[in-house]
Amino acid sequence: MNERVQPIIELNELSKRYGIGDAEYFALSNLNLTILPGEFVMIMGPSGCGKTTLLNIMGLLDRATSGQYLLDGKAVERISRRRQARMRGNKIGFIFQNFNLVPGLNVIENVALPLVYRGYYKTRRLTVASKVLERFHLQEREYYMPWQMSGGQNQRVAIARALVNNPSIILADEPTGNLDSRNSHIVMEELKEIHDQGNTIVMVTHNAALTTYATRVINMLDGQIDTDVKTTADADLPTAAPKEPKKAKPRKKPRKNKKGKS
Ligand SMILES: Nc1ncnc2c1ncn2[C@@H]1O[C@H](COP(=O)(O)OP(=O)(O)OP(=O)(O)O)[C@@H](O)[C@H]1O
Ligand SMILES: [Mg+2]
Repeated sequence: MNERVQPIIELNELSKRYGIGDAEYFALSNLNLTILPGEFVMIMGPSGCGKTTLLNIMGLLDRATSGQYLLDGKAVERISRRRQARMRGNKIGFIFQNFNLVPGLNVIENVALPLVYRGYYKTRRLTVASKVLERFHLQEREYYMPWQMSGGQNQRVAIARALVNNPSIILADEPTGNLDSRNSHIVMEELKEIHDQGNTIVMVTHNAALTTYATRVINMLDGQIDTDVKTTADADLPTAAPKEPKKAKPRKKPRKNKKGKS
């Protein structure tokens, strides 16, 4: 129903500037975006339009130059870096295109890694990690090294690692970018299941065919949101409290042209 819920992510007039002087460049430009709990948002757009920059800011891996970011209602700009790191550990799970597994650690150790920051002892870490791997039907691979696994299996390990802390939001930057279509499908089915369980997912992709999994598709262009479309008429999806429409401010500098990816 249309109950008003607190957005899990709210970005107001967010900008990210790189460089100074002549080299000044806005990767994000006065961007406004509200994401509600339970949405499965896919972000598309040409190479260089700011997708990764946006995801990294949402994931507290990077800071905006100006604007406001409310994560679960809290203004992150006002939070110390240490508390931000703790928030990231508790609330956010990251999945990357190149899996980012630690090559010298086996599967279960990789999945258990985020729990180090929780202060769990090793046995407890491995027990929790083992449970998550079981859910992904990877328990027989617990002691494999990443190089002994397929790309699809490694990405599923990376998803297990992203979920081990029970985050409320999953951020995925082209999680199927290095996978063939069969493995892409397997990974997408896993993400769908995670979404069906009530998690919020924000995923960047270049593959338009995957948008069938999304409840909302956002197209970015030149550091701004170009189009924003709800793709499922899901009566159970909450809607945000209406906001005053804001006029986009002009970018400080025209951005240099960049060719889009195919
Ligand atoms: N650390 C940095 N220093 C300077 N410029 C940067 C930096 N990181 C990103 N940029 C620039 O910001 C713009 C947005 O980059 P971003 O990585 O967000 O693009 P993207 O949409 O994720 O592209 P792709 O689809 O190729 O991954 C690009 O023009 C990029 O060159
Ligand atoms: Mg990117």
